[in-house]
Amino acid sequence: MPKQKRVFSGIQPSGEIHIGNYLGALKQWISFQAAAECIYCIVDLHSLTVDYDPQTLKGRIMDKAIAYLAAGLDPKKTIIFVQSAVPAHTELTWLLSVATPIGDLQRMIQYKEKSKKNPDNINAGLLNYPILMAADILLYQTDIVPVGKDQTQHVELTREIANRFNKRFGQTFQIPKTVLPEKGAKIMSLKEPEKKMSKSDGYDSCIFLFEEPDSIRKKIMAAQTDSGNEIRYNQRRKPGIANLLTIYSLFSDRAIPEIEKEFKNKSYKTFKEQLAQLLIEQLKPFREKKKELQGKEALIQTILDKGAQRAGRIANQTLEKAKKNMGLV
Ligand code: TYM
Repeated sequence: MPKQKRVFSGIQPSGEIHIGNYLGALKQWISFQAAAECIYCIVDLHSLTVDYDPQTLKGRIMDKAIAYLAAGLDPKKTIIFVQSAVPAHTELTWLLSVATPIGDLQRMIQYKEKSKKNPDNINAGLLNYPILMAADILLYQTDIVPVGKDQTQHVELTREIANRFNKRFGQTFQIPKTVLPEKGAKIMSLKEPEKKMSKSDGYDSCIFLFEEPDSIRKKIMAAQTDSGNEIRYNQRRKPGIANLLTIYSLFSDRAIPEIEKEFKNKSYKTFKEQLAQLLIEQLKPFREKKKELQGKEALIQTILDKGAQRAGRIANQTLEKAKKNMGLV
């Protein structure tokens, strides 16, 4: 039997999971579980690079673990763990930093955007963020990294770092590939559909995976559209409707032209009402599963501890190899 591919990805424990995270990343993660060896991480160290409250960090990590399980990750098949519980991630970050030109870090879009948003806290961690992400991926000899579109530049840089390192110090790392979903790699904000849906851009711009029905309805009915009245997919001219059609299509598993046909000569209001109803129904199992998991924190902590042990064993092998090839061992 051919060797299974290895998959690695992560989400930061900042804010709640929204449908952009789900459609761009988590949904792919879940489908990979059947045929690949999957390792999914809660990347707490990355979340320290912007202002945060240390008092609530532990709770947010647990919330993310609950979200992973409620969305359908299966700890029997998949390794689920917290980044800071495996020290190899920070150690490899240092080793990779000598194979990373500063200019490459300075041109990263996310670095530029976050620096603009947090002008009083442009810390070295924000600049070095992609090296830690490269360490996450390379430690596991990863073949596939399923992410949304905004992370492709970071995975591309990971490939460059790995190639440079392998060339300089000898074959050490597998070169990973980005996998984007066919549709939904960039879900847009409900308020400003020219921008991606992001938890840092306000509560009303996102639908969260565990959102209650009333609030889903309110947000969808208030979503930004254009002044026309046709339910037609046109990314450039009608970005709001195009985004809502994409969401409709992905949650109903129906093609966009079919949905356009169904809503021909119907109003934006009718379309939005039906989309809200669809989301309320489709997100219901997630809300229910989350309620079941709340109160089982001890069990979830055991899953994370076991995950960290299993991840640590794989990560340490790669770390040792990297140190040996660099002349440290
Ligand atoms: P994060 O926590 O910002 O986002 C988690 C995942 O969700 C995807 N995503 C979206 N997809 C579609 N539409 C959107 N509006 C949208 N917003 C977010 C992201 O692309 C991502 O896949 N640096 C990473 C976390 C990370 C990581 C890694 C990922 C750390 N180490 C190693 C992969 C491999 C991040 O901040 O994701």
